[in-house]
Amino acid sequence: MYKRVPGTRDILPEEVYSWQWIEEIARGILRNYAYQEIRTPVIEEASLFSRGLGEFAEIVQKQMFLIKNKEDTYALRPEGTASIVRAYIENNLDKIKKFSKFYYFGPMFRLERPQKGRLRQFHHIGAEAIGSIDPNIDIEVISLADTLLRSWGVNGYQIQINTLGCPEDKKKLVQLLEKELKDEAAALCQECQVRLNKNVLRILDCKNEACKQITAKLKLQDKHLCADCQEHFKEVRSGLDGLGVKYEVARHLVRGLDYYTRTVFEVKHGQLGAQDALGAGGRYDNLVEELGGPKVACVGFAFGVERLMLVTQPAAKTTGGLTAYLVTLGKEASREGRILLDQLRKNGIPCETDYEGRSLKGAMRAANELGVKLVLLLGEDELKKNVVMVKDMAAGSQEEVSRQELIEKLKEKLVQNSKRKDQN
Ligand code: HAM
Repeated sequence: MYKRVPGTRDILPEEVYSWQWIEEIARGILRNYAYQEIRTPVIEEASLFSRGLGEFAEIVQKQMFLIKNKEDTYALRPEGTASIVRAYIENNLDKIKKFSKFYYFGPMFRLERPQKGRLRQFHHIGAEAIGSIDPNIDIEVISLADTLLRSWGVNGYQIQINTLGCPEDKKKLVQLLEKELKDEAAALCQECQVRLNKNVLRILDCKNEACKQITAKLKLQDKHLCADCQEHFKEVRSGLDGLGVKYEVARHLVRGLDYYTRTVFEVKHGQLGAQDALGAGGRYDNLVEELGGPKVACVGFAFGVERLMLVTQPAAKTTGGLTAYLVTLGKEASREGRILLDQLRKNGIPCETDYEGRSLKGAMRAANELGVKLVLLLGEDELKKNVVMVKDMAAGSQEEVSRQELIEKLKEKLVQNSKRKDQN
């Protein structure tokens, strides 16, 4: 028997309703904030990521799913930002308008060791604002992430923010860290000893206890930041304060991808265990130019949907919006039922029937299990009179309805039932 690949999941129909709920809420909010959906391929040239995310980023070094053919090496995308920037440049979107806002949903792939909240195929809901250096857009993006979390009913999360500064400031921070950590090299974990020369920033968010103790002693202030970057960060914080977005400044937050500059942020949740980030993002003011496009500044974020699922109780469950269930009695009614079902569906009334030869009782039970509110009975009597018996399960009533009036009547009942639901 075949099994799914480790670190991947089947999202079965019952769970898919929750996914749709999460996505529908996100779509509504992202539209309110004027973001437009973008869909890019799941495979890209591998070098897009090594160049975009950084040769020494963990994702590039260890986690890429590579597909090699004779001439090319492709990668299953490990994240969305680089792909969106590629699409922005390739499609000359900057020529259409200088400033654009995109959102995306979709699977991402990282060859990680699977554990709770860490998969090899997982899903992002992300947003990217391309073309502005204005701190207002950092503020918008972080408050958008906060609004999404509230709308999904997530409680108990913390937003951490920091600034890495511009590339010159980042270089200064790297030098500062290299200097401060040089003497501690022997006490660092093996991975951080390598990072000391290649990716020193990542030592700051190493999970190893010994490394944490060493980095906790570092007095990280904003000494490495130029006046512009300090001012930008001040503006971002005061904007978030003005909007009532709760956050804490975490000087150790550096993020694992090279493209980040200035504002970075992460949303943490205590219920998630070791993989405690629900989502993350920040500015990447040089990535578009780095990948061959114009010099435009950007900021964005992405949430991991599987991790969101661990901390939300999505409201939508079961029926998937089925309204009616048709029960036919006898061959003739079954033939006529096919036509009726077709008419109802084409008129926007979601309905189902029995395909398993159930008895009347069995069919009624099946309707009940589906949570359907209206059962339509079609037997010999009804055929003769050209009517359908409509049983309203919620109201506990039944009535004969002529075939001509059926669709209108069902639509009316739909409205009544949804009003009743709203009142409850
Ligand atoms: P990231 O922090 O690598 O950022 O991923 C964002 C979120 O995806 C994480 O916070 C986590 O919830 C989820 N995630 C990451 N890896 C896994 C995994 N193996 N299994 C399950 N969930 C996972 C980015 O990818 C950036 N592109 C975010 C961004 C957008 N920055 C600017 N714009």
